[in-house]
Amino acid sequence: MAVIKRIDHVAVVVDDMEKSLSFWRDALGIRLHELRDVPAEKSQVAFLPLAGAEVELVQPTSDDSGIAKYLARRGAGMHHICLEVDDIDAMLAHLKTKNVRLINEAPRLAVDGKKYAFIHPESTGGVLVELYQI
Ligand code: CO
Repeated sequence: MAVIKRIDHVAVVVDDMEKSLSFWRDALGIRLHELRDVPAEKSQVAFLPLAGAEVELVQPTSDDSGIAKYLARRGAGMHHICLEVDDIDAMLAHLKTKNVRLINEAPRLAVDGKKYAFIHPESTGGVLVELYQI
């Protein structure tokens, strides 16, 4: 049985990175580790590590990305929570037996070799959930 190990990150969609950083970094005082362009996601991402997890602020850099469409439709706000799992294939197979609606039926491979998959908010209480195996 696959095991959820920890919360890896919480992702927030923003429409104004500097304004968001003035809250998360400057007002709350969470250290900004890196502000990085992620061309594959057509977005700029701010990584703010916090006690083994991370807050990620995501701003689209093009109008035609999934994240840009999300921002246009729903506005800025919570985008997804990511949970680390020890065996993503086993967990996805298990979730299918529980009739959980998956966005990715099979894990996708990130550029850094990590496997990930998204679970549909319909099955989670309204929150997009990302599973991720290092
Ligand atoms: Co994520």
